[in-house]
Amino acid sequence: MLKEVTATRYITPLREGGSLPGLVEADDLGTYVMKFTGAGQGRKTLVAEVVCGELARRLGLRVPGLVTIGLDPVIGLGEPDQEVQELLKASGGLNLGMDYLSRAIGFDALAHRVDPEEAGRVVWFDALVNNVDRSWRNPNLLVHHGELWLIDHGATMIWHHNWPGAQASADRPYDASDHALAPFGPDIAAAAAELGPRVTPELLAEVTAAIPDVWLRDEPGFDSPDELRRAYARPLLARAATVHERIRIQEGTK
Ligand SMILES: Nc1ncnc2c1ncn2[C@@H]1O[C@H](COP(=O)(O)OP(=O)(O)OP(=O)(O)O)[C@@H](O)[C@H]1O
Ligand SMILES: [Mg+2]
Repeated sequence: MLKEVTATRYITPLREGGSLPGLVEADDLGTYVMKFTGAGQGRKTLVAEVVCGELARRLGLRVPGLVTIGLDPVIGLGEPDQEVQELLKASGGLNLGMDYLSRAIGFDALAHRVDPEEAGRVVWFDALVNNVDRSWRNPNLLVHHGELWLIDHGATMIWHHNWPGAQASADRPYDASDHALAPFGPDIAAAAAELGPRVTPELLAEVTAAIPDVWLRDEPGFDSPDELRRAYARPLLARAATVHERIRIQEGTK
């Protein structure tokens, strides 16, 4: 279960994000980056954030802490921006929050060094969850106190958009040529040896248990949230053992 908090104040939209995430303050006095259930990308984006965030953290990668944020749209009534108003109105109930890393800066391959071991762990993890959103154009990596943090896992696990074809889709190779950390000589073999065996059925059960039931209801073909949780775990378990053999990095594509 993720910690549950309630939004008390909408601070400002984060304009860089395509889904218009916002900065909010909550009743525990924390400041969170909030991703809204009412955003066009839909609740599967939030499920992906939870699965990948909680999995990455358990594998020792840095990911901002996740919470669920209860939202009463009334807190946005004074919001002058029409688009933000609409988003808040459409997002009453449970939303996703992540710890705001204040003063973090966006990763820049020219300004920051990453060692091959760390680059390998990140590329291997992104291959595992089939993350297509960590390219050098849009790294979705932050640097905070000199350390690398992973954000934005909404565009992962493409197979959850078509469950009947999930296994076939999960068997596909992963092209990391455009990956933000490809230039750092990622040691994928070392990452696979270290992290692969740690992705166990027990770990995945723990990770998927963190997805709120309300985001798992009414999925065609599934009778219960728990059945859908098991469907999320299956391709990840299968991929963990062999995905390193299917990671391709083409030199000189940048
Ligand atoms: N936990 C955080 N702490 C500090 N800043 C953050 C955090 N999460 C996100 N941001 C900032 O907000 C921006 C948008 O966040 P994010 O990439 O998660 O949103 P998105 O809507 O999914 O974006 P995209 O346009 O990449 O799909 C990030 O690029 C980053 O600058
Ligand atoms: Mg992003």
